[in-house]
Amino acid sequence: MSLSGLRRPVCLIPKFALCIGRSLTVPICAKRRNVPKIMSVQKFSASVPKPKKETVSLCFKLTDGSEHTATAKVGDNLLDIIIDNDIDVDGFGACEGTLACSTCHLIFKPDQYEQIHEKPTDEELDMLDLAFGLSDTSRLGCQVIVTKEMDGWEIEVPSGVADARG
Ligand code: FES
Repeated sequence: MSLSGLRRPVCLIPKFALCIGRSLTVPICAKRRNVPKIMSVQKFSASVPKPKKETVSLCFKLTDGSEHTATAKVGDNLLDIIIDNDIDVDGFGACEGTLACSTCHLIFKPDQYEQIHEKPTDEELDMLDLAFGLSDTSRLGCQVIVTKEMDGWEIEVPSGVADARG
């Protein structure tokens, strides 16, 4: 068998295709011949992966004397921390954080109360007025965001809940 009988491989991209930077320009006549599309260059990020959310340890003290230590992610609110850690407080968080019930009432130590980053809004204060066992250092758990400074805090959960929705 002679080599002349073999078919030469066919170059699908004409010689006059232009390479400009990363893009390849193929003339229209080449596109009509089912020339495979040349995929664009995928860009990959070389950035550093996001760090995991930091966590702190909180202790919730119930009026029956029990203490519940919870792992809390910085940035979450205290209502979510109590729910996520299965701390059983009857009726707690009834409105699911929509600032409509005051059942997520928590009491802080005075020095810790001052360290909470966000001060209570007028809406929170209005709802707190309806909370059971209100104190000068009361906050609604759904409105308090966990910060690094809270690590080791002991937070009191009042003995009863008052659902402002009636
Ligand atoms: S859960 Fe209802 S006000 Fe916080």
